[in-house]
Amino acid sequence: MGCKTISILTSGGDAPGMNAAIRAIVRASISNGIKVLGVRRGFNGLINGDVFEMNIRSVSDIIHKGGTILYTARSPEFRTQQSVLKAAKVCGELGIDSVIVIGGDGSFKGARSLSKMGIPCIGIPGTIDNDIACSEYAIGYDTAMNTAMEMIDKIRDTAQSHDRCSIVEVMGRKCGDIALNTGIAVGATAILVPEVKYDIDKDIIDRIKFTQNIGKKHFIIIVAEGLKNVNKVSKEIKKRTGIDSRITILGHVQRGGTPTLKDRVMASKMGCMAVDMLIHGINDKIIAIKNDKVIYMDILKALSVKKHFDIELYRKALNISI
Ligand code: F6P
Repeated sequence: MGCKTISILTSGGDAPGMNAAIRAIVRASISNGIKVLGVRRGFNGLINGDVFEMNIRSVSDIIHKGGTILYTARSPEFRTQQSVLKAAKVCGELGIDSVIVIGGDGSFKGARSLSKMGIPCIGIPGTIDNDIACSEYAIGYDTAMNTAMEMIDKIRDTAQSHDRCSIVEVMGRKCGDIALNTGIAVGATAILVPEVKYDIDKDIIDRIKFTQNIGKKHFIIIVAEGLKNVNKVSKEIKKRTGIDSRITILGHVQRGGTPTLKDRVMASKMGCMAVDMLIHGINDKIIAIKNDKVIYMDILKALSVKKHFDIELYRKALNISI
């Protein structure tokens, strides 16, 4: 067997379900006689040699916990050749012969740099934003959407009592997936996403007025954070319709909490698959979900895929949000 020591790191923003993936990797590795080293705080831990040996019990009671027991970090430092070389040297010294990186596109670029140094790497998609183009789904996305939905359900109670408009900003960076799906799930009157150019008259004011004329008294507008425009939207609604608005920026609440069943199961499947791949000498790949199946593709190819936005679903959402 070529693979003797696997190391795991979580990188970028944490995402609920990362712990389930770590658990699967540790247990699948040890069951196959492979030593596992946990790396703290992403690529920074690899540069600094901040690693510890994990055993079967290191991952007890974590499957239901949000965050990541390995801690995480964004590591701009790892963009430099010098740091990559240092990390490769640390891997050599510690006998690490492969690295599993759980994170987003930025983290996969790091994995690619490391694999170019001869360290076999596998990437597992983990980010609430679901903005990894090669995969239909990333660990944490499901939990984040469910959290957003629960929060917005609460906001709806008060919007309804006051006949108000609630403008809710959800996370997702440049990706509108969280906004689109939570928007559908809460029956939002308008959903603004970075992927679709919007017109404040047509897409917000006219929709509010139209639904108001057919009896609607309170309104929910979901705005993806990438648009950075909640204040402008709120002012325009007041000015043009007289309706009072309140803004809620959900923020980091979406990143925490107990992972959903889907996130736990998908993370477990991807963790086991990563170990299996390394055992069979398959590396420098990103695990991805395509047509609901777990597949893998070359890191370089995965990084060149363009993200698909479900415009059909977006149109359907608008049709029924009346
Ligand atoms: O990538 C996950 C994410 O939560 C984004 O949705 C958000 O834009 C960003 O991270 C926030 O980053 P930080 O936690 O570093 O402020």
